[in-house]
Amino acid sequence: MPDEEFVVTPYEVKGRVDYDRLREQFGTQALTPDLLAKLHHIAGADLPPLLTRGIYYSHRDLGPLLDGFAHGKPFFVYSGRGPSGPLHTSHLVQFDLCLWLQRRLGVPMYIQITDDEKYWARAGLSREQTAHWGLENLYDILALGFDPKRTHVFFDSRSIAALYPLAIRVARKIPYSTVKAVFGFEPSANIGLVFFTALQTVPAFWPSWAEGRSVPCLIPCGIDQDPHFRVTRDIAEGLGYPKPALLHSRMVPGLLGEAAMSTSANAADNALFLNDPPATVERKVRHAFTGGRATVEEQRRIGAVPEICSVWALWRTRFAESDAQFEEVTRQCRSGELLCGDCKSQLLERVHAFYAQHAIAREKAKTWAESAIVTEAPKPL
Ligand code: TRP
Repeated sequence: MPDEEFVVTPYEVKGRVDYDRLREQFGTQALTPDLLAKLHHIAGADLPPLLTRGIYYSHRDLGPLLDGFAHGKPFFVYSGRGPSGPLHTSHLVQFDLCLWLQRRLGVPMYIQITDDEKYWARAGLSREQTAHWGLENLYDILALGFDPKRTHVFFDSRSIAALYPLAIRVARKIPYSTVKAVFGFEPSANIGLVFFTALQTVPAFWPSWAEGRSVPCLIPCGIDQDPHFRVTRDIAEGLGYPKPALLHSRMVPGLLGEAAMSTSANAADNALFLNDPPATVERKVRHAFTGGRATVEEQRRIGAVPEICSVWALWRTRFAESDAQFEEVTRQCRSGELLCGDCKSQLLERVHAFYAQHAIAREKAKTWAESAIVTEAPKPL
């Protein structure tokens, strides 16, 4: 595939992604400083690094959603995870933003765990595995600090009675030709995946269905998930529900320097998994691809290149405490003051501290995870 070509769908990320071109291909809107200022105003607090550092960069209809909120129309947040294995740090990008929104705006959060989808999408995974990882991933997500009173989980295989009455209606609105065009399935694709997009749509409408009134929805997600929600938005009005608004992030590069932090193939070293022991974390960071030069002398002279560095990406997305710290690391990297080994040591301190704190929060999350899983439909039909 030539350098400038890339493919992004929910089931495949290939090539070096040009995010601006992808946004144009998908027909989404750019996340502008004006919109961020509006969110800042509504939240009454500084925006989180994920928004100020350009990780989230695209959206659909965020403006009207925020205006609605400002005029007394609250929304809820919806995001999800396909449990194919342990979570890695870049999977937290979407949930970190959800958490910030829940804390600042007091909004309810709905999390979908798609253990069915991953079983259908990955030939090598057993049902036991996707169900197992579903629960493990859920503990990690809840451990970020979600409020038990305002957080609800659709664990597909266990929540199907709650989802199905609405899925029946949704599925009737989606022609096969749309699914084929949007996801590009091969003739050999199993029919589970053909149906699945209906289930990913359901949580976006569920609170409106349950409450019998229109409740706006905001979905923070990787831009690779946009195709599902184009389908959702196309059918929303026909079913009498509001179109969900979306906030799209870039995909964070892997430690070995690939386009996405992929967990497929033999890429275990390409990501920091939340269940990696400290020694493994240490080894992976030490081997991570950087934007450094061939020799110390050269790096001191002309500086390194943060934009291609996987360690810089970790600072950027999660581990820099403040914008000031992030800018300082970036400046020192570019000027050649900071060598890669020292940068990695500094990062590792932050990573180890996060893992230690996360392990404690995770045990606490286990005590209420089961009770957050929705198992019943709000009404018979
Ligand atoms: N399909 C997503 C995945 O493979 C999981 C998912 C379900 C999701 N609902 C979502 C992701 C809503 C983002 C937003 O990981």
